Amino acid sequence: MLPSDELTKIGFVRNGIVETIVSTFDKNQNPIAAPMGISSEDEKHFTLSVYKTTKTYVNLKEKKCGVVNITSDPILFHRTVFKDVNPGNKLPKDWFTHASKVDAPYLRNTDAFIEFKVTNLTGSGEKAKILCRVQKIAKSKKNSLQVYHRAKSAVIESIIHATRIEVFIVSGEEKKAKELVDLVNHYTKIVNRVAPNSIYSEIMSDIQTRIKKWTKKR
Ligand SMILES: Cc1cc2nc3c(=O)[nH]c(=O)nc-3n(C[C@H](O)[C@H](O)[C@H](O)COP(=O)(O)O)c2cc1C
Repeated sequence: MLPSDELTKIGFVRNGIVETIVSTFDKNQNPIAAPMGISSEDEKHFTLSVYKTTKTYVNLKEKKCGVVNITSDPILFHRTVFKDVNPGNKLPKDWFTHASKVDAPYLRNTDAFIEFKVTNLTGSGEKAKILCRVQKIAKSKKNSLQVYHRAKSAVIESIIHATRIEVFIVSGEEKKAKELVDLVNHYTKIVNRVAPNSIYSEIMSDIQTRIKKWTKKR
């Protein structure tokens, strides 16, 4: 175990939520990864709040362990949340490596990862509250020096909003959906100005296409 303030050192805020990517194995050892918000409880425990409809929930319930991958790369968030942007609708297997303390995969190309065991799983509604205990924290050796780029934050915010927009459109909550669509339109303008013709503007255009498709279905 690393020093007790290790979660704080890598940016966790007690009782606050940080955005990460959780990777797990299914019962046939196929790896998956999905963005998830995490709330730290103390220096050794954190909580996940996971929709029971996700594969991540099924895997965590089955395997009782996983890995939290730490990254601020919008491309990783995009490819792990919308699996259909990947070849064969699946994340490439060579993106993953087996963790050392738990039976779960981690994503190679991230800044750090936290191996964890599930210690408690509760929740009677559509979401489960999953209490996890840190088994190991490891930092990548890659140079993670990065300039602050507005496009990166704008893309990640838009991906988060997009996942909610789909839910609100499906449930007929039009006002809530419109508020988020307006925000995504705002972020699209920022990205097209600070990162024109880039992978980030391509991701924004993919998000806009998805929103149009979801809207048309109604
Ligand atoms: C930044 C971000 C954070 C997210 N946080 C959560 C979360 O805390 N709980 C959850 O159930 N879904 C969350 N989602 C949505 C899931 O990532 C999404 O439903 C995903 O497709 C689930 O994939 P899976 O079925 O492979 O597990 C989040 C999405 C993003 C982009």
